[in-house]
Amino acid sequence: MSNIVSYDERVKNFSWKIAEDELDYKPGQPINIGWYCSDRICQMGKGDKYALLWENAMGVEKKYTYNDLRLTSNTIGHFLRSVGIEAEDRVCIFLERIPELYLSFVGILKIGAIAQPLFSAFGEESLFIRLENAGTKAIITQRKHLGKVRKIVDKLPNLKHIIVVDHDGKKELMDNEVVFSLETATPVEDLKIHPTVAESPSVLHYTSGTTGQPKGVKHVHYSLISQYLTTKWVLDLQDDDIYWCTADPGWVTGTSYGIIGPFSMGVTQCVLEAGFSAEAWYKFIEKYKISMWYSAPTAIRSLMKAGEEIIKKFNLSSLRHLASVGEPLNSEAVIWSERVLGMPFYDTYWQTETGSMILCNYPGMKVKPGSMGKPFPGITAAILDIKTFEPVAQGVVGLIGLKPDWPALMRTYWANEETFKKKFENGWYLPGDRARIDSDGYYWFVGRDDDVINTGGHLVSPFEVESALLEHEAVAESAVVSKPDEINMEVVKAFVTLKPGFEANDDTELLIMNFIRKKLSPLAMPQEIEFIEKLPKTRSGKIMRRILHAQEWGEEIGDTSTLEDD
Ligand code: WTA
Repeated sequence: MSNIVSYDERVKNFSWKIAEDELDYKPGQPINIGWYCSDRICQMGKGDKYALLWENAMGVEKKYTYNDLRLTSNTIGHFLRSVGIEAEDRVCIFLERIPELYLSFVGILKIGAIAQPLFSAFGEESLFIRLENAGTKAIITQRKHLGKVRKIVDKLPNLKHIIVVDHDGKKELMDNEVVFSLETATPVEDLKIHPTVAESPSVLHYTSGTTGQPKGVKHVHYSLISQYLTTKWVLDLQDDDIYWCTADPGWVTGTSYGIIGPFSMGVTQCVLEAGFSAEAWYKFIEKYKISMWYSAPTAIRSLMKAGEEIIKKFNLSSLRHLASVGEPLNSEAVIWSERVLGMPFYDTYWQTETGSMILCNYPGMKVKPGSMGKPFPGITAAILDIKTFEPVAQGVVGLIGLKPDWPALMRTYWANEETFKKKFENGWYLPGDRARIDSDGYYWFVGRDDDVINTGGHLVSPFEVESALLEHEAVAESAVVSKPDEINMEVVKAFVTLKPGFEANDDTELLIMNFIRKKLSPLAMPQEIEFIEKLPKTRSGKIMRRILHAQEWGEEIGDTSTLEDD
């Protein structure tokens, strides 16, 4: 049976109680996402249904039923407790997209600890900053990434346990390193679920801002209410769907809609642990008969580039519904998918801090290619004047503002309440994006309101890249902006002034690139370093990235009245 009821109908009769009732949750009672994602589904009689169908680049397959998910997450939760992990301790998951990532996320939540997933391609410095800020007590990792952890563990007094899930006995382990293997651990049938309540912390995701270090976005167990209902209504997941979310759980899409949403609905989901290739992706859809696919604009543009001949080699008739998130979904991509796949990608807009979808193209609603759609029922959104924070007239560009009253909104930035407070003005939560509303009430993305770079759907802080550059002996000053790119929409570009004695040439560029490569994740790496004599600055000495940005994008430079005199 379809979940589709008209958008207007849903908005008219909306209350978050709809989700609470469907989940049998009563305010004040315990609510634990880990239990909802596994035990509850088994209690509903779906223990033998597949929860996770996993495959890697070598074609190795693993399959887990909901009962397997319940048992493995119990076993991991029990193990964590046995080494001393308690409720609200931060446990970092530093794994590639192997099954243990998904299973341990559920296990960590079951014991009331806080899951801190981090993208496994992070270099040691990126990892260090995030573990230090969170005061992380344990990290679950694999052999491949152990070297990075070893380099920083001495600087992290709170990090007591390093748990290796694929130890092969070859390498000697250090004192604080322990082995955990799902293959040899005794399955734990009964685990006491920690009685977390609505406001108990659940997940800590790190996200980049323009200034300062990355911020730890704190979510709570009550976020399930929004995540469950948006999964049901926007992704339109139904009991017999086979779902594929292409996002890595190091980022919020991979947890909110790559773990919590589908598992809490008892749906079967697939994971492909392999890099992008059009052929491999189409093959995966055909093989697993994927019916609902949640992906991102950069991936869609890459598929477009791979051409249409390749699609003809595969049977993609299982596909029923498609959605996208993370960056502007250009209208060409929507029109392409309508033509080639027979249905549009439905754009969704939200962010790490919002925890769940905010603006969506809702199934059953007319898709306007290029628009982000309309607010999810229960979300009060507006476009605000950039100075007064009052709603502007229809059609005028302003800041997106959201009434901060939906279940999944972050509760704070970890150990950074001050920055958290700055996200609110005049009773609105400000995601930091600019948009406009058309006469039908559809939202159109205009741009970010800060200097954060969104490359292929991944947010990169110019500050983080500039800091890494400044550590190199040749670099005097740096400014990092985006430049246009056909596939990733924008990529990172660095402007650098050199210290005396260093020459602006290819060798210097290569030396600097190799130096920062060790510090940053591959996603944050500049595609280009341009050496210049002098960076544009305000009279007070602040680097004006805006000017360099405008230059790269061929835009009007705008107000330069604060620019330093020559
Ligand atoms: C951008 C990812 C245009 C936006 C879930 C937002 C989008 C940031 C869209 C959040 C969209 C996300 N159209 N821009 N449909 N979706 N963005 O925290 O700038 O990694 O604030 O969360 O990505 O990125 P984050």
